[in-house]
Amino acid sequence: MTLQLSRQSLLRPEIYIDGIWCGADDGSTRSVDNPATGDTLAEVPDAGTEETRRAIEAADRVLSDWRSKSAQERAGILRRWHDLMLEHKEDLARLMTAEQGKPLQESRGEIAYGASYFEWFAEEAKRVYGDVIPPPDGSKRIVTIRQPVGVVACITPWNFPNAMLARKIAPALAVGCTVVCKPANATPLSAMAMIVLAEEAGVPPGVVNIVTGKTNDIGAEMTSNPLVRKLTFTGSTPVGKQLMAECSETVKRTSMELGGNAPFIVFDDADIDAAIDGAMVCKFRNAGQTCVCANRILVQDGIYDTFAARLTERTEALKLGDGLDEDTDVGPLITTSAAKDVVEFIEQAVSSGATIRTGGKQSDKGERFVQPTVLVDVNDEMRVFREEIFGPVAPLFRFSTEEEAIRMANDTEFGLACYFYSRDIGRVWRVSEALEYGIVGINEGIISNAAAPFGGVKESGQGREGSRYGLDDYTEIKYLCMGGIDA
Ligand code: SIN
Repeated sequence: MTLQLSRQSLLRPEIYIDGIWCGADDGSTRSVDNPATGDTLAEVPDAGTEETRRAIEAADRVLSDWRSKSAQERAGILRRWHDLMLEHKEDLARLMTAEQGKPLQESRGEIAYGASYFEWFAEEAKRVYGDVIPPPDGSKRIVTIRQPVGVVACITPWNFPNAMLARKIAPALAVGCTVVCKPANATPLSAMAMIVLAEEAGVPPGVVNIVTGKTNDIGAEMTSNPLVRKLTFTGSTPVGKQLMAECSETVKRTSMELGGNAPFIVFDDADIDAAIDGAMVCKFRNAGQTCVCANRILVQDGIYDTFAARLTERTEALKLGDGLDEDTDVGPLITTSAAKDVVEFIEQAVSSGATIRTGGKQSDKGERFVQPTVLVDVNDEMRVFREEIFGPVAPLFRFSTEEEAIRMANDTEFGLACYFYSRDIGRVWRVSEALEYGIVGINEGIISNAAAPFGGVKESGQGREGSRYGLDDYTEIKYLCMGGIDA
């Protein structure tokens, strides 16, 4: 059944190379389905090495024109792109929910969030400053300028089909880079709709290209082609490591937004109402499928039982269903195997002594639906402590002291986001400084916005996206040494 949009042309299942919409060279396609119903939404090109190479060559050919436009011109185009995304927010949100599954309300939020990166970087484009540095002697002057790194390859995940692409394309274009994008095969339609609007905003042919299809072939061309000077990836840590290794052959710059295992710590002195609200949104948004979702909820002894009872009550009230229904709180998981994996996490915990307070099973709504679940009696030997669950499961761990909470929180190879709730100002500073994470939410469960630097430490990645720091990964610093001043 065709998804009905107000503007049907936003559903454009084609790749986009050098300003031309087209299919795969051999005409092959792959289907995109709706995770809530299993219905096929569209057939998209199953492209590979050759199409990717042509996209990279196009991006390289137009690079010098694009980078020599004034910052104001580039900013104007990005700003128009932002406005168009907001103008078509409802259609983009429906398309996203249809292919990704998240509730419509969250999709609307994501479109606004994605658009905000275009607005933010349209403004930052005008502030790509260099330095004048005091020289070691009077005969020289030292000046630095920032220049675009060149052609950027962007590989993005299915959990945020719009915002993750926006967060990469916007800073890249702002500073004068050109891009070749590979959205996730599960959710390419949102990316394609964004490109329809890019054309309308005035992005010249070749500046933004998009290929879908054979992941390994496309990835291999992106990592090996010497014309690509930078690769930016959001996805799992194992794939990130592989891409970094491949990029090392041509010494490409890389930015990596990888997996997380976020602790969400609730101290005895917390505002418990705020902590429950924060935990609900942090755990269950996008059905738990974000890299910054609360993965391990650590609760101090004194409030553990109250917190567990109240979180259970709120979780029981969540409505599981098709994201296109306005009253749905939690949608399906992206695939049947993802749902099975999440149920395995629960089963492994239960077989090792955990107790299910609510949920615990695949739902009768369909094989991709998992019941929102609360687990107690969990411990650090279980998979729910060690691995990223990526599903609607809240395991509640118990701790006694601040030191124990910090030790448990840091006991992971990941270091993306973490959260804690406390009203003690001394503790707020001590714990913020001790947590080994790139992002710390303090009395706050939602940390993502365009003004803030998003990124992790340890095996959660490198580089920062958003904020003024988000431009650094797309620019090279060039040092100009000017001699003979005294002559
Ligand atoms: C992610 O899950 O990778 C991103 C989440 C966000 O930007 O909030």
